[in-house]
Amino acid sequence: MTGAAGGPAIEDTISGLRARLDEARARRRRVGLVPTMGFLHAGHRSLMEHARSENDLVVVSIFVNPLQFNPGEDFDDYPRDLDHDLAVCAQAGADIAFAPAQQEMYPAPVATSVSIGPLSDVLCGASRPGHFDGVATVVAKLFSIVGECSAYFGEKDFQQLAIVERMAKDLSLPVRVVGCPTVREPDGLALSSRNAYLSAAERAQAPVLRRALQAGAAVVEAGETDGAVVEAEMAAVIAGASLARIDYAAAVDPATLARGRPLRGEVRLLVAVRFGRARLIDNLGCRAG
Ligand code: PAJ
Repeated sequence: MTGAAGGPAIEDTISGLRARLDEARARRRRVGLVPTMGFLHAGHRSLMEHARSENDLVVVSIFVNPLQFNPGEDFDDYPRDLDHDLAVCAQAGADIAFAPAQQEMYPAPVATSVSIGPLSDVLCGASRPGHFDGVATVVAKLFSIVGECSAYFGEKDFQQLAIVERMAKDLSLPVRVVGCPTVREPDGLALSSRNAYLSAAERAQAPVLRRALQAGAAVVEAGETDGAVVEAEMAAVIAGASLARIDYAAAVDPATLARGRPLRGEVRLLVAVRFGRARLIDNLGCRAG
């Protein structure tokens, strides 16, 4: 149950985790939760450090959630390395690694699903039908298991963050959802477990996502209010990378994720691009005049 000296305690049962957290909260300790699918990198570590700075007890969940993968997606191949993940948890000072088996999380087929309506159907939800229902369902389950806490999510997955915030609010879950900035490689590529799929040639072109977002933001900040023009600018930058296949380039209202209105106030630019078998996403905030 307890990890190596200095490392996190490893919990693989729901009841065991609940017992530890109930006991901690009874002693008025603040609980921080960092949900992950493992194969942890510096982006995940930054969430853990943020949680560490605000809480007395930090739980990292490590679970590759089958509900959020469509048939034909990379559930079987998704990279997994628990020893490495425990080392990252130890470096970041996490107290508990919750690493349940699939049988523990889903002992029977799940009949209940959490769906967030319009926020789930656009952008990544349009290319990955059902994906965000799978995310919302497992995050609701984690929130229910962990109970009152602050939960840390990356802005890198901006649509996911918006959905989780909305779910917690709509369902009155006792969880404060905290968004954390995207951690990048020196050349601007956002860290992602799926970067492991990139060939050397694809990796060399992958910073085009960040360049497209910066070009889009420059157009917005120069006064453009037509979202379609901004989207075309980002798409043109992506088209300049020979190995890139664009999924979408979007300029949206950050609260509703809706496109199509004149851009005003806070704007979120988002792109999704395929390189070979990797599907990469990134986003950037800017302000329309
Ligand atoms: P995963 O892709 O492992 O990401 C776990 C958390 O790390 C998410 O909140 C994600 O936004 C954040 N993250 C990933 N890359 C980041 C980066 N470069 N900078 C900052 N944060 C980053 O997202 C999931 O898992 C799953 O959908 C999950 C929420 C765990 C539900 O299964």
